[in-house]
Amino acid sequence: MTAPGLPGRKVSLTGIKPTSLPHLGNYLGAIRPALALKESHETRYFIADYHALTTLKTPGTIREHVYDVAATWVACGLDAEQTLLYRQSDVPEVFELMWVLACIVATGQLERGHAYKDAVAQGDAPNAGVFNYPLLMAADILLYDADVVPVGRDQLQHIELTRDLAERLNYLTEAPVVTVPQVELTEGPLVLGLDGRKMSKSYGNALPLFASEKDLKAGVMRIKTGSEPLEAPKDPEGTVLWNLYCHVTTEDEQAHLRARLLAGGFGWGHAKVELLAALEAVLGPMRPRFHALRADEPALDRLLVAGAQRARPIARQTLDRLRTAFKL
Ligand code: ADP
Ligand code: TRP
Repeated sequence: MTAPGLPGRKVSLTGIKPTSLPHLGNYLGAIRPALALKESHETRYFIADYHALTTLKTPGTIREHVYDVAATWVACGLDAEQTLLYRQSDVPEVFELMWVLACIVATGQLERGHAYKDAVAQGDAPNAGVFNYPLLMAADILLYDADVVPVGRDQLQHIELTRDLAERLNYLTEAPVVTVPQVELTEGPLVLGLDGRKMSKSYGNALPLFASEKDLKAGVMRIKTGSEPLEAPKDPEGTVLWNLYCHVTTEDEQAHLRARLLAGGFGWGHAKVELLAALEAVLGPMRPRFHALRADEPALDRLLVAGAQRARPIARQTLDRLRTAFKL
């Protein structure tokens, strides 16, 4: 039996939970870096709607967010033909692998899962989906031969469990049936929200990605700044305005704006105008693309289904290797 995976470029897999409309922090901290991986990897992206079901139960909500996320990623530059983009629930093979994994994992390993343990510690009665969440995630990863899974620190425990289960599967079957994925910690740049805390949907301090230019301006005007007089020199270091500006401009542009602020006679209001222009230069071209894509749900369905049709044979191959190796 030969080792799975394609020769040459490493396969990277990115899973996105459809729980909200992405904001600027999601774009700069997660979407843009994940899309840049296509330069060095064979990239695969999927929308983890069954994972979202652990928390979102209102019928229709997840589907709406699947469209939000798919339209966002394509508007931001994901080429669904060059790479792979699919919806988790369109490839139910993942549950077959999840069952196999359930039969080799110790319940104690799942009891130590951060999300499950925290929920129990807080006196909640978490559903079994929360308990089994890491197994579904491991199945996502192993089904598609991922060499590398770029994730934030909060997902590290899940990848470690996945590696452990992959090694155990290969040991039990005495064959390299699955690829043992590498941990790749991606500490994307931290994007600050309008109030100076981390930009987050839960803090109400986020700049929407595809708001109109007018609403984007209203958001930028809400950013807290110092109250020095116009003529005073101003140090931008550590401010929200500077954090956002640096994410969307070149070093030359940053040096230029810093010099003007430090020289005095240039107000925070002027700097906000510069920030708005820089944000608009990045987001402006994506905005109409997003709205056109989001308005056509049948087209998004076709795109996701086409992705699933390409994902499915990969999933099937993994399961065939596994069944053969287990002599089922
Ligand atoms: P939120 O904090 O708004 O709930 P999520 O937890 O859904 O966002 O994050 C989705 C992805 O976006 C993750 O990869 C996360 O690291 C990234 N992300 C979210 N907010 C920020 C931020 N302020 N700066 C950088 N990356 C962020
Ligand atoms: N648990 C991940 C998150 O909350 C989403 C996810 C599900 C995922 N399956 C995955 C990420 C597989 C990477 C690989 O962000």
